[in-house]
Amino acid sequence: MDVLISKANGILTITFNRPDKKNAITAAMYQTMADALKDAECDAGVRAILFTGKPDIFTAGNDLDDFLQNPPQSTKNPVYQFIQNLSHASKPVVAAVSGPAVGIGTTLLLHCDFVYAADNARFSMPFAKLGLCPEFASSLLLPQIAGYQRAAEKLMLGEAFSAQEACAMGFVNKVLPSAEVLAFAQAQAAKLVALPTSSLRATKRLMKGKQIAAIEAKIEEESKLFSEMLLSKEAKEAFTAFFEKRKPDFTKFK
Ligand code: COA
Repeated sequence: MDVLISKANGILTITFNRPDKKNAITAAMYQTMADALKDAECDAGVRAILFTGKPDIFTAGNDLDDFLQNPPQSTKNPVYQFIQNLSHASKPVVAAVSGPAVGIGTTLLLHCDFVYAADNARFSMPFAKLGLCPEFASSLLLPQIAGYQRAAEKLMLGEAFSAQEACAMGFVNKVLPSAEVLAFAQAQAAKLVALPTSSLRATKRLMKGKQIAAIEAKIEEESKLFSEMLLSKEAKEAFTAFFEKRKPDFTKFK
């Protein structure tokens, strides 16, 4: 299984498990995660959700081959269902990140409640480098969390940045040694499990309630553009260059 779903002690754990492809996420993986989040919503046995990956890779983001073969063109697509279910989750969501978190690997963290990063974590949103644009409300949430200029630098240049920088930017709660991050995140999730669900749900709703409509509107705006840009010559060149292990050449495009 490329994504492992497990339930224990009130925590639903979603683990990226495709190490040979650096945990790159396919449509089938998004669907598995979307379904797990939907089930969790009505399962009283789930009181917190935890995302994690492997010690050396969180996820390389969307599978670029999948992007080329089946570009998501509708809001019924698994990736939209996944983000929709994540951004609407009424239960607390915790993430433990080790290694690279690329593209949606970083974007999804903006929708989590607590994010813990290992000192080897590297975050990046290389959309412009791929001939694309920001996705799933990152163009709204990142400037809100980090301030416009910091968000602009990360979203335009797309360069990878450290766990310490992500912590200073405000979307990582704490940086831990690599060997400790998962256990720490699990312990934080266990604290949430012990608290009254009704209070946590109310707290989350009070903080995020007004934001939901703005997030949905931004996702719609971004998705329209993203779908068009996925079919662009620039994106095709970037994806092909990745698989041919060379630098993309955008100078041939106006
Ligand atoms: N989609 C599909 N396959 C991917 C992938 C992705 N997003 N990321 C990595 N892979 C595959 C590689 O093609 C390679 O496959 P191969 O062994 O069959 O050649 C394998 O995973 C290992 O990747 P590699 O690049 O050699 O690993 P690395 O440790 O040198 O680098 C990353 C790791 C994550 C930094 C690098 O793989 C990367 O930048 N990936 C692309 C990230 C990306 O652009 N994501 C989309 C964002 S929208």
